[in-house]
Amino acid sequence: MWASEDKAMREFDEKSITQAVIERLSDCKDARFKRVMTSLVTHLHDFVRDVQLTEEEWMNAIQFLTAVGQACTPKRQEFILLSDTLGVSVLVITLNHRAVNATTESTVMGPFYWEGAPERPLGANLAEGVKGEPAFYSGRVLDADGKPIKGATLDIWSGDGEGAYDMQMGDEVGMRARGKIRTDEQGRYWFRSIRPTYYPVPTDGPVGAMLRKMGRHPNRPGHIHMIVSAPGHEPITTHLFVADSPYLDSDAVFGMKESLVAKFNKHPAGKAPTGENMDVQFYTVEYDFKLRRAAKAA
Ligand SMILES: [Fe+2]
Repeated sequence: MWASEDKAMREFDEKSITQAVIERLSDCKDARFKRVMTSLVTHLHDFVRDVQLTEEEWMNAIQFLTAVGQACTPKRQEFILLSDTLGVSVLVITLNHRAVNATTESTVMGPFYWEGAPERPLGANLAEGVKGEPAFYSGRVLDADGKPIKGATLDIWSGDGEGAYDMQMGDEVGMRARGKIRTDEQGRYWFRSIRPTYYPVPTDGPVGAMLRKMGRHPNRPGHIHMIVSAPGHEPITTHLFVADSPYLDSDAVFGMKESLVAKFNKHPAGKAPTGENMDVQFYTVEYDFKLRRAAKAA
């Protein structure tokens, strides 16, 4: 009897293997980690059984994940791109940042955030020397009751008018089309940048190969990124999408939200809202951000 019980504990079939792995977590002290790993093992095993994974496919998966890791550099995060293109990033964001009472929705951070963008004065041109049609952005940052927040920070980053980000241009380029802007006493912000265009996510790595094999296009609709934050409020990582951009209905990273679509109003050459004289046509965009109060510290 003892022998058969021992055998039962040592050898596993295609079903009992799952419970066996979960039982090895019995001494895990971190309850949350235990729950996450238990669920991960359950779903991973179910997935392998569901598709009846072959050894060749298993090896392909190992090689793919290895290549994803090897494609990462301090300026390129292929794993975030993988998460983005599989809809995992936006799912995590949606679960953790439910927009209530018409507060601004969050969306994916994407792979091109670069910490430490310089603080610029209100009205600054963040896109000096950057290709693209000029666009003047303005609006307010409000609290959940609609009251303006002074000193709120917008940490802004954008690709250029051809959809390329500074981080894709080589080390000598440095930061471009980035900057931090703070709201004034009335919670207002304004700055100049460019009207962003649609662009493909990087396709020269393993995630690009995956997209091609899936029969998917790699494009994201035109958007400008920002993290909007203020003391006592939950920061939001979000975008403004260009209202008439291609690919709004098939964003490669599933980040599109209707509430974040902004109209870019076209103006002929002439006086810009900042008072400067423009010799080319330009756009104006207005958008108010509404922040949720931060949850009280426990
Ligand atoms: Fe982007």
